[in-house]
Amino acid sequence: MPVLRRAAIRKSKKSREEEEIQVLDTILDILSKLKYEGKMSFGKNLAEAREITISLGKWLLNHFDEEEKILFPYLEVHVPKLEPAIRILEAEHRSLRENLLSLMRTAFQLRVRKNAAEQNGLIEKLGDGAVCLTYFLRNHVNTENATVHRSVRHELRGDEQRELRHLLKEHRGRSGHC
Ligand SMILES: [Fe+2]
Ligand SMILES: [Fe+2]
Repeated sequence: MPVLRRAAIRKSKKSREEEEIQVLDTILDILSKLKYEGKMSFGKNLAEAREITISLGKWLLNHFDEEEKILFPYLEVHVPKLEPAIRILEAEHRSLRENLLSLMRTAFQLRVRKNAAEQNGLIEKLGDGAVCLTYFLRNHVNTENATVHRSVRHELRGDEQRELRHLLKEHRGRSGHC
């Protein structure tokens, strides 16, 4: 039920950072079902793994985009000491994007195949890619929490926090990203 899962993420009251981790946990959960559940539901799990990896991958790409276009530039102006941390976070985004796009390409190739070895190879590659991405993304979220998100809460004035929320909302409206 990918649609329901996506809706659950949209409607949650979680912070953006918590959502980021939830997205990856959802992908990992589906991939482990694919590996360890019986052959009975294999075709269904395969389709679900493919669809959810691609749609949640898009969610993450949008999230990086929103941080680079709105959150980071706003903080560079209002909390200039964050500049070195922001450069590191942007460099991490570049690596994360490459990993994520490669994961999405693998997911895109995932269909029931006659050649079992080829199919198992793709599932293996997808699982390894997701574990690796989760590890890097968790570190990235921890760094963001200790730097940019901490500054939003403790160093921006109330009116600045409201302005930033407004800019983020506007950006999400333009990009169709909720
Ligand atoms: Fe983030
Ligand atoms: Fe980020």
